[in-house]
Amino acid sequence: MTKKQFIIKVEEMAKLQGYQKPEYNEGVLKLDSNENFVINKQLQQDLIDMAQKNSDIREYPLGKSEKLIESIANYVNLPKQMIGLGNGSDQILDIILSNFASKKTKILTSNPTFGFFEERCKLYQIPTIKIPFSKDMILNLDDFMSKSKQADILYLDSPNNPTGFQFKKEELVELIKKCDGIVIVDEAYGEFSDYSVVGLTKKSENLIVVRTFSKTFGLAGLRLGYVVSNKKFIDVFSRVLQYPYPLNTLAIEAGILALQKIKQIEETTRIIKEERTRIIKKLRESGAFDVFDSKANFVLFDARGADKRIYTALLEQGISVRKLGKIGKHEGCLRVTVGTKDMNSKFLLAIRDLLK
Ligand SMILES: Cc1ncc(COP(=O)(O)O)c(C=O)c1O
Repeated sequence: MTKKQFIIKVEEMAKLQGYQKPEYNEGVLKLDSNENFVINKQLQQDLIDMAQKNSDIREYPLGKSEKLIESIANYVNLPKQMIGLGNGSDQILDIILSNFASKKTKILTSNPTFGFFEERCKLYQIPTIKIPFSKDMILNLDDFMSKSKQADILYLDSPNNPTGFQFKKEELVELIKKCDGIVIVDEAYGEFSDYSVVGLTKKSENLIVVRTFSKTFGLAGLRLGYVVSNKKFIDVFSRVLQYPYPLNTLAIEAGILALQKIKQIEETTRIIKEERTRIIKKLRESGAFDVFDSKANFVLFDARGADKRIYTALLEQGISVRKLGKIGKHEGCLRVTVGTKDMNSKFLLAIRDLLK
């Protein structure tokens, strides 16, 4: 590449938006990134303390990933040869895209879909076929079925971010069976939903399921993701495509310990699901919004033109939600993470006051 080509390439890349992170506001109630605050901070602190005791960070994490893989294999009830690790599931998605997709491959996905995935497709100039959500924020299976043969890759976040929608299990299974190409099912929010398709990786050679410790396990800051697929793919993924040491020692140790606390973690998931129902109910009762069902740890609602005002007013009161703007026919969407009972009550109270 000549100097001139380099400059042109950088200029082209500069036109891209990149993944839009939420605004950083110090000390606010963070309900903008689908993190998990129901998990007790002390529990996480104990994990890190213990992880530190088990680690010698002068060493590369040799042999450590294998232990985490064994723990994950146990958790998902599949052989360890079917599990690979990544620096967050973001990085796993990036590895798949950069190695298996190109300007010539078409990706079938929904509109909207996970923002990072969309931005990565733009970066690599991978064409996408996007199926829009209906006015009720639902996807139509037939739309996907009819386009499935035109696509080389199907990417679905199940549940979807930012809508919270998830196909019925039998629908998703039908769609996976129909696709000849690679099927990527992103289950970042899988544990908050009613089902997982991870077990299907045993039978479906073309299925890749991507999962994370960021949401259910409340370990977003450690950047711990994993991928489940057929043994051949996982071998290539881990031995050839992935970095030699994608995860740091503390993250690996903390991941192993978190899986030992699965009962406590499942309890937080139960609370989040309960609180999700409460938030949806209360927002609906206000009569001011279109509130969509959710299978994830967040709720999407259309503030019917008042989104900017509500977003700013909430922020002034120290509550940060995600401003998403137009989604399909809905002009002013906001997404709120399901936090602790206390956080959710503060959010709901602030909304109530704003509507007075
Ligand atoms: C659908 C989806 N997939 C993947 C991720 C990324 O997760 P990780 O923290 O493991 O990179 C997110 C994070 O918000 C997400 O919403």
